[in-house]
Amino acid sequence: MPRIVKFDATGPIKIDPNLKVGDVPPAPNVIPWPRDDAGNLKVVSVCACGISSKFPFCDGAHKQCKTEDPACVYQYDPVTKQVVGKTP
Ligand code: FES
Repeated sequence: MPRIVKFDATGPIKIDPNLKVGDVPPAPNVIPWPRDDAGNLKVVSVCACGISSKFPFCDGAHKQCKTEDPACVYQYDPVTKQVVGKTP
């Protein structure tokens, strides 16, 4: 089930536990660590399939990958998250 995912970032995404939702991030690549309603840091799932719309966090889009043929390489549209290419 290999897939090709295009990324254009040239550096990391930093997840800052000291930054809260609504705070002004110190740089565009810095995002807050998700918190629960009580303000506690949440356990997060990190996307390993590469097609999450909330990358680097998992948003459940990986479910589309479960029907991939292990003998093929898949390409996904970065916006629609739909398969746009499949090669054996
Ligand atoms: S692992 Fe990528 S969306 Fe869940």
